[in-house]
Amino acid sequence: MVTSICRGDAVSKRRVAILISGRGSNMAALIEAAAEDGFPAEIAVVISNTASAGGLAIAQRSGIDTLVIESKPFGKDRAGFEAVLQAALDERNIELICLGGFMRLFTADFVNHWNGRMLNIHPSLLPSFPGLDPHGQALRAGVKISGATVHFVIAETDAGPIVMQGAVPVHDDDTADALAARVLAVEHRIYPKALQLVASGRTRFEGDLCKSTSNAVNDQALIVPE
Ligand code: GAR
Repeated sequence: MVTSICRGDAVSKRRVAILISGRGSNMAALIEAAAEDGFPAEIAVVISNTASAGGLAIAQRSGIDTLVIESKPFGKDRAGFEAVLQAALDERNIELICLGGFMRLFTADFVNHWNGRMLNIHPSLLPSFPGLDPHGQALRAGVKISGATVHFVIAETDAGPIVMQGAVPVHDDDTADALAARVLAVEHRIYPKALQLVASGRTRFEGDLCKSTSNAVNDQALIVPE
């Protein structure tokens, strides 16, 4: 019997679900990257916890399967919402989850089930400025450099093994909106690269840390103000 193995074909790609609650610009960056030949993951579904998420239309235009599981009717019954979500993920044989502005906290059970298989992006250089208003927090702290972090999700909010970070300068006259826009541009660069690393098996855990095998070396220092 002759068998052939095609590297980078649909069979070998990790099946990814992106979870959103809003505009979905990180989702769009992931969809665009995953459409490239040889990308090690395919976006199998975009799931929103609200029908009003702008990202749903973008995903549909890209021909991606979308699903709305309204979380509001579940109120504080987080496990109830997650049971429906888990069934949808199982049905589609999802292997990795990417959170893209998904504004609902998970139970420890759900997080533990997806341990090492769920990524999030947060618009700060974690562990600085987790939670709400990260750009306001950065401006109030007077940092000269901020950025974005892709990390594996653990039970603690905006924490967990860091896969990749990207840095941007903070200007003295920045508003939170101006800084958010600068950071968002770097989010769109690092999330696809981080997913590529994880999906191609080039990350590993050492204790609570994530290490990666990457050939690229970037020794450039970002010094602000210069
Ligand atoms: C992004 O800036 C993302 O980093 C942030 O929500 C935004 C979603 O935008 N996530 C968090 O703050 C998580 N704590 P998007 O819907 O355009 O991707």
